[in-house]
Amino acid sequence: METFFATCPRGLEDELKKEFMDLGGQAVRATPGGVECQGPFSLCYRLNLESRIASRILWRVGEGSYRHEEDLYRLASQLPWPQWFSVNCRIKVRLVAQQSPLTSLEFSTLRVKDAICDRFLRDIKKRPEVDKRNPDIQIVVFVDESQVAMYLDTTGSPLFKRGWRQAAGEAPLRENLAAGILRLSGWTSDQVLLDPMCGSGTFLIEAGLMAKGVAPGARREFSFRHFRNFDRVAWSEIRPDVQQALPKTPQLKLFGFDHDAEALSMARSNLQFVGLGGVQVNPGDVLEITPPADKGIMVTNPPYGVRMGNQPDLEEWYPKFGDMLKQRFSGWTVYVLSADFRFPKLIRLAPSKKIPLFNGGLESRLYEFQMVAGGNRKAARLSKRQGVD
Ligand SMILES: C[S@@+](CC[C@H](N)C(=O)[O-])C[C@H]1O[C@@H](n2cnc3c(N)ncnc32)[C@H](O)[C@@H]1O
Repeated sequence: METFFATCPRGLEDELKKEFMDLGGQAVRATPGGVECQGPFSLCYRLNLESRIASRILWRVGEGSYRHEEDLYRLASQLPWPQWFSVNCRIKVRLVAQQSPLTSLEFSTLRVKDAICDRFLRDIKKRPEVDKRNPDIQIVVFVDESQVAMYLDTTGSPLFKRGWRQAAGEAPLRENLAAGILRLSGWTSDQVLLDPMCGSGTFLIEAGLMAKGVAPGARREFSFRHFRNFDRVAWSEIRPDVQQALPKTPQLKLFGFDHDAEALSMARSNLQFVGLGGVQVNPGDVLEITPPADKGIMVTNPPYGVRMGNQPDLEEWYPKFGDMLKQRFSGWTVYVLSADFRFPKLIRLAPSKKIPLFNGGLESRLYEFQMVAGGNRKAARLSKRQGVD
């Protein structure tokens, strides 16, 4: 039985835990910033291929207590690295510290790298090259106040890089955050989904791939192929054939708008690339669109000043957005991701939920608004009962 630790965007740990339980993980446990689970080595093939929420899957290869850099050197040199990967692989060591007493993280990282190279020299008289930009094998070391855990990264480039993005706008949402938000919204493929400011189309594509049951990692490679224990046959048995057409499903009810022609053309080429060319994204100003159905789920991340949009303009725009929701979207449930915490006040609606999430390094909130007919007094009462301010 092996132990794996998956990192994910903060705030999505519980959703990732559910996903790992569905994917066959055992002893699944959520911790801040990730989820630990156990299973046979081949479990990491499935987690890399199928997880929509994880950022990377790490395989735990060593752990212990430590006080100084030299304890890290000792622990790392005891591990049989040459049994796990070839000396021809280029390596990178990354150290992540939380409340660690180590004085220099850079020096500690070097000591772990030295220990790995020295272990190779001792066992096979050759040492691997370091490549910080494009390593074949990444060794991740987590240190807290007194404990260290060493991992081999089974993923490579992070899992939100699905391999379908032909084009990205100014502030595209990470794919795993979009997938996590769809899970938090409870959207199911029989429901209408609308992103009225769809940019490059991330929510719509993640929703389409979920509805069609397409593995998010089907189009990319993973670092585990460099491991000595890589089981080509087992992998080829679970890896889907991306050349095949997507499975037929009842017509998807996915709708997107954006007022920017360039964003729409990016969304279209991304949708086309993944085989979701039938999904309509149309030009439109969010303040003027007509809802595509009487009820449904809206998910969106409007411009919020930090990365795009001009602050005074946004202050005028938000109340108009709130008025538009009240006038046209009764019957809908609306989810807005924003890093601007004045958002609910500015749109003058009471959120029924406020979920803290990190968008890259940016602290954000996912606001849920139940758009009930006659304003959202009911939602306001509900939020008061749930202690949402
Ligand atoms: C933060 S980006 C959304 C990114 C998108 N979720 C993605 O993953 O690419 C905000 C988007 O809102 C669009 N937008 C801004 N104001 C708009 C408006 N009034 N009507 C329609 N779209 C608007 C912008 O063109 C931009 O594409």
